[in-house]
Amino acid sequence: MTSPALATVAASGRSGSSAFLGALGGLALAGAATLAYGHFIELNNFKIRQERLALLPAGSPDFRILHISDMHMIPGQERKIAFMNSLASLEPHLVVSTGDNLSHLDALPDLLRAMDPLLDFPGVYVPGSNCYFAPVMKNPARYLWKQNTGSEALEEERAALPTAQMHQAFDERGWVDLINRYETLNLSGLRLEFSGVDDPHLNYDQHPGFSPTAFEADPSPSLRLGVAHAPYLRTLDRFVADGAQLIFAGHTHGGQVCLPGGRALVSNCDLPPQRASGVSYQGDVPVQVTAGLGTSRFAQVRLFCPPEAVLVTLTAAS
Ligand SMILES: [Fe+2]
Repeated sequence: MTSPALATVAASGRSGSSAFLGALGGLALAGAATLAYGHFIELNNFKIRQERLALLPAGSPDFRILHISDMHMIPGQERKIAFMNSLASLEPHLVVSTGDNLSHLDALPDLLRAMDPLLDFPGVYVPGSNCYFAPVMKNPARYLWKQNTGSEALEEERAALPTAQMHQAFDERGWVDLINRYETLNLSGLRLEFSGVDDPHLNYDQHPGFSPTAFEADPSPSLRLGVAHAPYLRTLDRFVADGAQLIFAGHTHGGQVCLPGGRALVSNCDLPPQRASGVSYQGDVPVQVTAGLGTSRFAQVRLFCPPEAVLVTLTAAS
């Protein structure tokens, strides 16, 4: 026969475990709801972030640069295509694309449809690893703890994306590749010098530097830009040492799954996570890192980190 005391303990044990199971169920439901929000809502909650940087000589007119990156296009992403089409209304003087354009072997037609109106504007581009190799299935949470040495992608068997066709399509529309290349453009009276590198995440980067004699006899305003996919610190330091006055990069996805307030936990490289999106400084040089417009097709969730394009307006220094 069970004593009243034991019966009370057994009853409280049963109510304790059902409370625990209830809490666990609640947590699981909240987790599922959060993931559903991150996949169905935030993934398509496209934003335009606006930045103003006073980098031009006094008296210069404003100069608008549209920065796009990390589209990770998959066939059928119509909302992303519509958003990217709409960016043409910003009428940028220049488009800077910092790579990771594809996330599927058959996505090139949709990528070009998304970029079509933007290819009417002057543009420069560098590739990321997801311009060369299709993604492979892996634990998405690995993004949060893996070490980023810059050589990871070479260890994997990844199918080749149509890189050459994509770059040919850009080139045919007049865009300029900065794949380990130095280039100059004169746009709206502004002399632009570019030093671009292939993806540092793949260790493909070889810095061309800037020319000390470019535009030597031209007194009009000028600016030196460094452009890379992945903002590894060695890459930023080298741009600064070479004389860059503004740097553009993507790759980080802004941390992709962030804490409330957009606080990034990771940058997917050795850049401190608090610099995973926005304008930060390497020495005195502004570094514009975008959270990008997409995610890997195998990790389609964003939290407190909406996809973005960035309009950087260069203004005259006072
Ligand atoms: Fe990316």
